[in-house]
Amino acid sequence: MCGSMAERTPDRLLGEVLAQVKTEDARLAEIVTAAVTHLHAFVREVRPTEDEWLRGLDFLVRTGHTCTATRNEFILLSDMLGLTSAVDDVNHDGPDGATPSSVEGPFHSPAPPRELGADIAEGPERGRAAPMVMHGRVTDRAGAPVAGAAIDVWQADDAGHYDTQDPQQPPGNLRGLFRTGADGRYWFRSVLPSSYPVPTDGPVGGLLTALGRHPMRPAHVHLRVEADGYRPLTTHVFVAGDPYIGSDAAFAVKDALIVEPVPVEDPEAIRRRRTAGPFLDLPFDIRLADADAR
Ligand code: BEZ
Ligand code: FE
Repeated sequence: MCGSMAERTPDRLLGEVLAQVKTEDARLAEIVTAAVTHLHAFVREVRPTEDEWLRGLDFLVRTGHTCTATRNEFILLSDMLGLTSAVDDVNHDGPDGATPSSVEGPFHSPAPPRELGADIAEGPERGRAAPMVMHGRVTDRAGAPVAGAAIDVWQADDAGHYDTQDPQQPPGNLRGLFRTGADGRYWFRSVLPSSYPVPTDGPVGGLLTALGRHPMRPAHVHLRVEADGYRPLTTHVFVAGDPYIGSDAAFAVKDALIVEPVPVEDPEAIRRRRTAGPFLDLPFDIRLADADAR
């Protein structure tokens, strides 16, 4: 213990690492300082063996190697650890009265523009799955209609597949880009989505299995709503009664986003909604916050 080096302690080691953060970028310094501080605290608490530490690093290497142009295993890892939802929460804690946001997920792709009332189910699910009509009004928080709002929707079919995962579905199937009318209303025809597993053939799937977790997401429709002067909203509508509604693998469910599908058999409603027969009605009104709302 002689010599000029001071004795190594955990705090001294952490201090030496943090002293090397010399950037002028204050936000970068804040982020790296907090990340390094929390990771050192993790090591002190857990006391990983060297073998465990290398296994952890190997998990991250395999996660990186699983990423492709169309698959991001790191985003999936963030989703499955509830971190994407935590980032959503801190960024959109939501002005009172606005529709809550929820994570975007990995399956968004550009949707074909469609007329209000269009049927977005153009694949083999048509005639097989339960017909559904989704509709509502886009308003501001005071209830005034927002005309011309862009509503981008995407969903999986009744087997839990998106068009981009399923060669049987035509491109753009179960997707649509709509614009609200002067009264702020939107509506479209589709089929009831089903719950589905997140991709499980990579390291994140292995982690879920090792933890005794299921990979399922409850049935949902994704929505992205944009209108001039309003804060853009990315959210989901979840189908009430889904067996996974209380245990979403991505931790994205919020009570205000759960909607009960209502069976409709009235011939006049069937005529007005242009469905082939009875359908499930999924009403969902959307309240947007002003762009500068706090
Ligand atoms: C999805 O909804 O599409 C999704 C969200 C998070 C992880 C995996 C899938
Ligand atoms: Fe999804």
